Amino acid sequence: MGCNTMKRKRSRMVLNFVLYGVGSAYGAWRSPRTLPMAAHTARYFSSLGQLAEEAKFHSLFLADFLHLSPASAHDMQERLDPLMVLANVAADTNRIGLIATASTTYGHPYTLARQFASLDHLSSGRAGWNIVTTMSPSAAANFGRDEHPEHDDRYRRADEFVRVVKSLWDSWDIDAIRADRGSGEYIGPGRVKPIDHHGQYFDVRGPLNVPRPPQGRPVLVQAGSSSAGIALAAHHADIVFTTQFDPDMSRSFIDVLSGEMARAGRQRTEVAVLPGLMPVVGRTRNEARKLAAELTALTTAEEGMPLLRSIFGDLDFSKYKLDAPFPDVLPLLPPNAPRSRAEIFASMAKSENLSLREVTQRIAISSGHRMVVGSADDLADDLQNWFEAGAADGFNILPALLPDDLKSFAEHVVPRLQDRGLFQTDYGGATLRDNLERSFEH
Ligand SMILES: Cc1cc2nc3c(=O)[nH]c(=O)nc-3n(C[C@H](O)[C@H](O)[C@H](O)COP(=O)(O)O)c2cc1C
Repeated sequence: MGCNTMKRKRSRMVLNFVLYGVGSAYGAWRSPRTLPMAAHTARYFSSLGQLAEEAKFHSLFLADFLHLSPASAHDMQERLDPLMVLANVAADTNRIGLIATASTTYGHPYTLARQFASLDHLSSGRAGWNIVTTMSPSAAANFGRDEHPEHDDRYRRADEFVRVVKSLWDSWDIDAIRADRGSGEYIGPGRVKPIDHHGQYFDVRGPLNVPRPPQGRPVLVQAGSSSAGIALAAHHADIVFTTQFDPDMSRSFIDVLSGEMARAGRQRTEVAVLPGLMPVVGRTRNEARKLAAELTALTTAEEGMPLLRSIFGDLDFSKYKLDAPFPDVLPLLPPNAPRSRAEIFASMAKSENLSLREVTQRIAISSGHRMVVGSADDLADDLQNWFEAGAADGFNILPALLPDDLKSFAEHVVPRLQDRGLFQTDYGGATLRDNLERSFEH
């Protein structure tokens, strides 16, 4: 990297496709445009991987949770194992990066280093690991634990976990395998070494029993935005996922992360920060609004109410009529409430003349991520504005309904970004890591 990285500027954005069930909209399975009964087949995942690859997305991403939520009675909450799914998608795609979520709280570093090294080999250098400490306490009971470990303890374990995984990947030199038929020497002397790790959480002798991954190290992704989460990202992440609604807030987050990275001896340019975005694209704005209304009808205000309240500082909305225009509640926010998201939803309600019911449903639909409703030009403008304002290095794209909304983003928005020179027209590099690096080139 060297000191040149200070001056480097990312000229093209990074796009990651979030493959969540049959779409990221709450209740996506209820739409006549999705096929939930076909969503657990190898063919389903591969066809989406191929679509995203044709559109030149850098990567696709599978989230993961380690329990079945009670919400599964009404929402599609089941998840196949992401590493198995992606090993299969690897066989049917050639260039797109494959990012799987895996937990540092309920996993073991030897197993996980092995799994991701294996995926990296099977995909010829396209593996990424979304490092999570597991959000939900309900996972604990599935792993024989009485309690979910507390937040900072989870992050301490995560840091040691990631260090062990990196050491295990590094335990093989790149050219360790000599396979010299003449001498009978398979591995070169001293080319594979134990790691002899003894820490607070793990004792691991090593070496790994998988050769060095093609990328050296698979790409590391992190999505926690607490101070412990940011510290973990600052030390290890190549990509950071965020939820941001406002470019200024997003820039402030990036500033904090950059400061932490500098303290960890890393450059800001070594990470790509990707805020989430649910695109609702129509041939006209009017058509896009109709599509958004279709999504709104998939969920109830009751389902969205807890999320609405958390955005508006736990304000009690029960005294307002659900079908009346969204009330003017900003003056009522408690002084310590976070304001940015509340202000954004309040101004969206005003400009689109939305009722309390519609705002609540809309928040539920995009699972708390920013939703942009408009023409393909509106979407391209929005992404360009964020990117050029330094508020994003790219985006996590959360299509509401799959495959339709991935297709419309790929067919209508991606070409506009490419015409503006803001997104790659082909994969320049062989590996995911190379392709992330190439977003800096002109
Ligand atoms: C885009 C995105 C994807 C995430 N995916 C997962 C996931 O698959 N599994 C999980 O347990 N947590 C996931 N998280 C949650 C984060 O890992 C983290 O726990 C959360 O953002 C809270 O941050 P904190 O733990 O630093 O307080 C995700 C967060 C974001 C923003």
